[in-house]
Amino acid sequence: MGKKIVVITGSPRKMGNSFAMTNAFIKSAQDKGHSIVRFDSAMQKVGGCRACETCFKTGKACSFDDDFNIIAPEIEKADVVVFTTPVYWYSFPAQIKGVIDRLFSFCVAGKDIAGKQCALIACCEEDDISVMDGVRIPYERSIALLKWKSIGEVLVPNVLNVGDIDKTDGRQQATALAEKI
Ligand SMILES: Cc1cc2nc3c(=O)[nH]c(=O)nc-3n(C[C@H](O)[C@H](O)[C@H](O)COP(=O)(O)O)c2cc1C
Repeated sequence: MGKKIVVITGSPRKMGNSFAMTNAFIKSAQDKGHSIVRFDSAMQKVGGCRACETCFKTGKACSFDDDFNIIAPEIEKADVVVFTTPVYWYSFPAQIKGVIDRLFSFCVAGKDIAGKQCALIACCEEDDISVMDGVRIPYERSIALLKWKSIGEVLVPNVLNVGDIDKTDGRQQATALAEKI
Protein backbone atom coordinates (compact mmCIF):
# COMPACT_ATOMS: atom_id res chain seq x y z
CA MET A 1 0.00 0.00 0.00
CA GLY A 2 1.21 3.50 -0.77
CA LYS A 3 2.69 5.48 2.12
CA LYS A 4 2.22 9.13 3.03
CA ILE A 5 5.53 10.92 2.54
CA VAL A 6 6.29 14.45 3.70
CA VAL A 7 9.27 16.03 1.93
CA ILE A 8 10.73 19.12 3.65
CA THR A 9 13.21 21.06 1.54
CA GLY A 10 15.75 23.64 2.70
CA SER A 11 17.04 25.38 -0.41
CA PRO A 12 15.77 28.66 -1.84
CA ARG A 13 17.09 27.63 -5.29
CA LYS A 14 14.29 26.09 -7.34
CA MET A 15 16.70 24.83 -10.01
CA GLY A 16 19.40 23.93 -7.51
CA ASN A 17 21.21 20.75 -6.61
CA SER A 18 19.13 19.59 -3.66
CA PHE A 19 15.89 20.31 -5.55
CA ALA A 20 17.16 18.17 -8.45
CA MET A 21 17.63 15.27 -6.02
CA THR A 22 14.31 16.07 -4.33
CA ASN A 23 12.49 15.91 -7.65
CA ALA A 24 14.16 12.59 -8.53
CA PHE A 25 13.17 11.18 -5.13
CA ILE A 26 9.57 12.38 -5.48
CA LYS A 27 9.16 10.99 -8.99
CA SER A 28 10.52 7.62 -7.91
CA ALA A 29 8.28 7.53 -4.83
CA GLN A 30 5.18 8.54 -6.81
CA ASP A 31 5.95 5.87 -9.43
CA LYS A 32 5.80 3.34 -6.59
CA GLY A 33 2.33 4.57 -5.56
CA HIS A 34 3.31 6.67 -2.54
CA SER A 35 1.68 10.07 -1.94
CA ILE A 36 3.78 13.18 -1.41
CA VAL A 37 3.24 16.37 0.55
CA ARG A 38 6.06 18.77 -0.23
CA PHE A 39 6.98 21.73 1.95
CA ASP A 40 9.57 24.14 0.53
CA SER A 41 10.54 25.82 3.78
CA ALA A 42 12.65 28.56 2.14
CA MET A 43 9.57 29.69 0.14
CA GLN A 44 7.33 29.67 3.23
CA LYS A 45 7.13 31.82 6.32
CA VAL A 46 8.72 29.78 9.09
CA GLY A 47 10.36 31.33 12.14
CA GLY A 48 12.28 29.67 14.93
CA CYS A 49 10.99 28.10 18.12
CA ARG A 50 10.18 30.65 20.84
CA ALA A 51 10.26 28.00 23.59
CA CYS A 52 6.94 29.26 24.97
CA GLU A 53 5.82 25.65 25.49
CA THR A 54 2.20 26.46 24.67
CA CYS A 55 2.33 24.00 21.75
CA PHE A 56 -1.08 22.70 20.58
CA LYS A 57 -2.82 24.75 23.30
CA THR A 58 -4.38 27.09 20.73
CA GLY A 59 -5.58 24.19 18.57
CA LYS A 60 -2.58 24.51 16.28
CA ALA A 61 0.88 23.01 16.69
CA CYS A 62 2.52 26.39 17.29
CA SER A 63 0.97 29.38 19.04
CA PHE A 64 3.08 31.65 16.79
CA ASP A 65 0.92 31.00 13.75
CA ASP A 66 3.05 30.82 10.62
CA ASP A 67 3.47 28.24 7.86
CA PHE A 68 4.88 25.63 10.26
CA ASN A 69 1.24 25.10 11.20
CA ILE A 70 0.53 24.06 7.59
CA ILE A 71 3.12 21.27 7.63
CA ALA A 72 2.79 20.15 11.27
CA PRO A 73 -0.48 18.19 10.74
CA GLU A 74 1.04 16.56 7.65
CA ILE A 75 4.12 15.51 9.64
CA GLU A 76 1.85 14.07 12.32
CA LYS A 77 0.00 11.94 9.72
CA ALA A 78 3.07 10.96 7.67
CA ASP A 79 4.55 7.49 7.42
CA VAL A 80 7.82 8.91 6.09
CA VAL A 81 9.53 12.30 6.56
CA VAL A 82 12.35 13.28 4.20
CA PHE A 83 14.66 16.26 4.77
CA THR A 84 16.44 17.60 1.67
CA THR A 85 18.90 20.42 2.10
CA PRO A 86 22.09 22.17 1.10
CA VAL A 87 24.73 22.74 3.80
CA TYR A 88 24.88 26.39 4.86
CA TRP A 89 27.76 27.38 7.11
CA TYR A 90 28.33 23.75 8.16
CA SER A 91 24.73 23.41 9.26
CA PHE A 92 21.11 23.51 8.09
CA PRO A 93 19.77 26.64 6.34
CA ALA A 94 17.73 28.76 8.75
CA GLN A 95 14.29 28.07 7.31
CA ILE A 96 14.44 24.25 7.44
CA LYS A 97 16.11 24.51 10.84
CA GLY A 98 13.01 26.41 11.93
CA VAL A 99 10.86 23.43 10.94
CA ILE A 100 13.21 21.00 12.70
CA ASP A 101 13.35 23.12 15.87
CA ARG A 102 9.58 23.27 16.00
CA LEU A 103 9.24 19.48 15.92
CA PHE A 104 9.72 20.23 19.62
CA SER A 105 5.98 21.04 19.64
CA PHE A 106 5.15 17.34 19.32
CA CYS A 107 7.39 16.54 22.30
CA VAL A 108 5.97 19.32 24.49
CA ALA A 109 2.40 18.27 23.70
CA GLY A 110 3.18 14.60 24.32
CA LYS A 111 2.09 13.60 20.81
CA ASP A 112 3.11 10.11 19.82
CA ILE A 113 4.87 10.51 16.50
CA ALA A 114 7.30 7.60 17.01
CA GLY A 115 7.82 4.86 14.45
CA LYS A 116 8.05 6.93 11.26
CA GLN A 117 10.56 6.25 8.54
CA CYS A 118 12.79 9.13 7.49
CA ALA A 119 15.67 10.06 5.20
CA LEU A 120 18.21 12.79 4.59
CA ILE A 121 19.26 14.17 1.20
CA ALA A 122 22.01 16.80 1.36
CA CYS A 123 24.64 18.52 -0.76
CA CYS A 124 27.49 20.96 -0.25
CA GLU A 125 30.21 22.78 -2.15
CA GLU A 126 33.30 21.43 -0.48
CA ASP A 127 34.83 18.14 -1.56
CA ASP A 128 35.00 16.84 1.99
CA ILE A 129 32.34 14.47 3.26
CA SER A 130 32.91 15.60 6.86
CA VAL A 131 31.23 18.92 5.92
CA MET A 132 28.03 16.86 6.02
CA ASP A 133 28.50 16.28 9.77
CA GLY A 134 26.68 19.57 10.36
CA VAL A 135 23.45 18.15 8.95
CA ARG A 136 24.07 14.42 9.36
CA ILE A 137 24.71 14.44 13.11
CA PRO A 138 21.70 16.62 14.07
CA TYR A 139 19.55 14.47 11.75
CA GLU A 140 20.74 11.21 13.30
CA ARG A 141 20.45 12.41 16.89
CA SER A 142 17.07 14.05 16.37
CA ILE A 143 15.51 11.00 14.77
CA ALA A 144 16.92 8.79 17.52
CA LEU A 145 15.13 10.99 20.05
CA LEU A 146 11.93 10.96 18.00
CA LYS A 147 12.21 7.16 17.58
CA TRP A 148 12.15 7.42 13.79
CA LYS A 149 14.02 4.94 11.61
CA SER A 150 16.29 6.20 8.84
CA ILE A 151 15.95 4.43 5.51
CA GLY A 152 19.05 6.17 4.19
CA GLU A 153 21.17 9.24 3.65
CA VAL A 154 22.18 10.67 0.28
CA LEU A 155 25.13 12.99 0.92
CA VAL A 156 26.63 14.64 -2.16
CA PRO A 157 29.69 16.88 -1.72
CA ASN A 158 31.48 18.91 -4.40
CA VAL A 159 28.43 20.64 -5.90
CA LEU A 160 28.37 24.44 -5.87
CA ASN A 161 26.52 25.89 -8.82
CA VAL A 162 23.12 25.10 -10.26
CA GLY A 163 23.59 22.08 -12.53
CA ASP A 164 26.63 20.68 -10.71
CA ILE A 165 24.48 17.80 -9.50
CA ASP A 166 24.53 16.52 -13.11
CA LYS A 167 28.24 15.73 -12.67
CA THR A 168 27.38 13.36 -9.80
CA ASP A 169 25.14 10.36 -9.24
CA GLY A 170 22.98 12.37 -6.80
CA ARG A 171 19.76 11.99 -8.79
CA GLN A 172 20.30 8.24 -9.14
CA GLN A 173 20.98 7.92 -5.41
CA ALA A 174 17.80 9.87 -4.62
CA THR A 175 15.82 7.65 -7.00
CA ALA A 176 17.22 4.53 -5.32
CA LEU A 177 16.44 5.95 -1.87
CA ALA A 178 12.72 6.04 -2.70
CA GLU A 179 12.90 2.36 -3.61
CA LYS A 180 13.74 1.57 0.04
CA ILE A 181 10.35 2.78 1.31
C1 LIG B 1 24.69 30.93 2.59
C2 LIG B 1 25.44 29.74 2.06
C3 LIG B 1 26.29 29.04 2.89
C4 LIG B 1 26.97 27.93 2.42
N1 LIG B 1 27.79 27.24 3.27
C5 LIG B 1 28.46 26.15 2.82
C6 LIG B 1 29.30 25.41 3.70
O1 LIG B 1 29.44 25.70 4.88
N2 LIG B 1 30.00 24.34 3.18
C7 LIG B 1 29.86 23.97 1.87
O2 LIG B 1 30.52 23.01 1.47
N3 LIG B 1 29.02 24.63 1.04
C8 LIG B 1 28.33 25.71 1.48
N4 LIG B 1 27.49 26.40 0.63
C9 LIG B 1 27.32 25.92 -0.76
C10 LIG B 1 26.05 25.10 -0.96
O3 LIG B 1 25.93 24.06 -0.01
C11 LIG B 1 26.09 24.50 -2.36
O4 LIG B 1 26.15 25.53 -3.33
C12 LIG B 1 24.89 23.62 -2.64
O5 LIG B 1 25.08 22.93 -3.87
C13 LIG B 1 23.60 24.43 -2.71
O6 LIG B 1 22.52 23.56 -2.87
P1 LIG B 1 21.20 24.04 -3.67
O7 LIG B 1 21.62 24.20 -5.11
O8 LIG B 1 20.24 22.92 -3.48
O9 LIG B 1 20.75 25.31 -3.08
C14 LIG B 1 26.81 27.52 1.06
C15 LIG B 1 25.96 28.25 0.23
C16 LIG B 1 25.29 29.35 0.70
C17 LIG B 1 24.36 30.12 -0.22
